[in-house]
Amino acid sequence: MNSIPSARPEAAMRLWAQKQCAILEADSNEAAGHIQALQKREDGTMIFYFTGTGNSYQAARALCVEGEVPLDLADCLRKGQRAFDLKQGEALGIVCPVYYGGVPSTVLEFVRSLQVSAQPEYCYALLTCASSVSGAAGQLAEALADRGIALHAAYTVIMPENDVIHYTISPEEERDAILADAAEALRVIARCVAERRKLGLHIPPRGRMITQAAYPYYEQDRETGHFHVDDQCVGCGKCVERCPEDAMVMENGRPTWVKDKCALCMACIRCGAIHYDEATRGKKRYVNPILKSCH
Ligand SMILES: Cc1cc2nc3c(=O)[nH]c(=O)nc-3n(C[C@H](O)[C@H](O)[C@H](O)COP(=O)(O)O)c2cc1C
Ligand code: SF4
Ligand code: SF4
Repeated sequence: MNSIPSARPEAAMRLWAQKQCAILEADSNEAAGHIQALQKREDGTMIFYFTGTGNSYQAARALCVEGEVPLDLADCLRKGQRAFDLKQGEALGIVCPVYYGGVPSTVLEFVRSLQVSAQPEYCYALLTCASSVSGAAGQLAEALADRGIALHAAYTVIMPENDVIHYTISPEEERDAILADAAEALRVIARCVAERRKLGLHIPPRGRMITQAAYPYYEQDRETGHFHVDDQCVGCGKCVERCPEDAMVMENGRPTWVKDKCALCMACIRCGAIHYDEATRGKKRYVNPILKSCH
């Protein structure tokens, strides 16, 4: 395992960062009222999401208006769905976490083979992260550009830390405070998306540098040889069901990793019986409350 060359900010810093990240020029009460009044647009939005522990799923759901359902892009990949029929005027949204200053390998794989029937009039990304988006939006924009798709806006929202390998998960009270701030930021972002604001991409050179320095570590750290399971395992198979990469199977009542690399999404490690080398021993695990209720 390698260490990431950046530290996560403390709680107070997080709140400051939240304000920097989200588009908060609008008064949030006004935004909340506006969102309640939002109706499904005739031309709609196709929203794809990737999540390990539920934050990005919560974010994707927050952007859906009446009748819209976000699509799990890992599921599309598994089913071999690459081509999507985008109606005239329909927008395209991608919601996912930031990993090592970039986007998850699954998201890059999906975008690199994505075929849409028409150039979306509005394409946006919403990146969830624990402290800093770095140059992740630039990386995603480049992958989309290779498919002939222009990214018109990238939004960021700070959500609770889920990287139990490198960091410590916040206590529940702090987690709830971060989620409450995130819910407010998401309401504002939802309004910007509904209005189809074309904000352009403003990626500071420092952000790009962090991505360039950190992302190569992701390639090494996502080797599944780091995972193992301890005697606390009761053989329920939930970790295998949750894996978006089909990187695990149950063998003799225990999970076994069958791919050399995975997305390192933390979905399986929600179970305290799974460990990553010795880095996760005795550590609390994170899952967004939205998954506890529906998965
Ligand atoms: C492997 C890994 C790497 C991460 N790297 C970063 C990072 O570079 N910057 C950051 O702010 N958060 C980082 N995080 C935290 C997640 O981006 C954040 O918790 C996210 O909201 C998790 O989304 P999910 O619940 O949808 O999986 C990382 C998390 C993981 C699992
Ligand atoms: S590691 Fe946990 S989730 Fe996976 S089978 Fe064992 S008990 Fe179930
Ligand atoms: S093996 Fe675990 S960490 Fe890797 S992709 Fe599957 S669920 Fe995520």
